[in-house]
Amino acid sequence: MSEGAPRNTAAEGAGKAPAKEPAKGPAPPPVPIEGVPCPRPGWEPQILAFCCTFCAYTAADLAGSQRTSYPTNIKIVKLLCTGKVDALYLLKAFESGVDGVYVAGCLEGSCHFETGNLRAKAQVERVKKLLSEMRLDPMRLEMYNLSSAMGSRFAEIAREFTDRIRKLGPSPIPKAPCHAPGESGTASEHERAGG
Ligand code: FES
Repeated sequence: MSEGAPRNTAAEGAGKAPAKEPAKGPAPPPVPIEGVPCPRPGWEPQILAFCCTFCAYTAADLAGSQRTSYPTNIKIVKLLCTGKVDALYLLKAFESGVDGVYVAGCLEGSCHFETGNLRAKAQVERVKKLLSEMRLDPMRLEMYNLSSAMGSRFAEIAREFTDRIRKLGPSPIPKAPCHAPGESGTASEHERAGG
């Protein structure tokens, strides 16, 4: 072979026994760890909503009792006040693999702890900047304000935000691995399962 000529790897491999392919059996379907979605066809956004018990959480209850439907993609974390939201909670949520996060607190001027919702707003703005630095679209995080009487607004926010995240697609943050049935999990998964 002349120098610089491309190597014919197929020819070099001729005569050698082909590597045996592992026997293909039906692969067990992956089981998503709670709160950590597996990327798959038919992907649906996984969204975490930190909701104040006095407003957004009550509004979610109202939406339910009024039979106002909203996407099941939303998992609610109930807080006494959104003032309890820490930047670390928001970042941890993204780290755990959710695709979008929002904080829903009382209307401005109506927080039962006076300025808890303003504090939450500041935390959300701070984390939005951090997400940009991490090359994660800050639109994946939002702050909303509503009253306990706004059941339909709660459902509307849930639909709007789910549509937004659906357009943005899955979070690019690597997800924790999925485990097939019967496989043992890590300690943290064990903890998640309450073991
Ligand atoms: Fe609702 Fe503070 S009590 S945000």
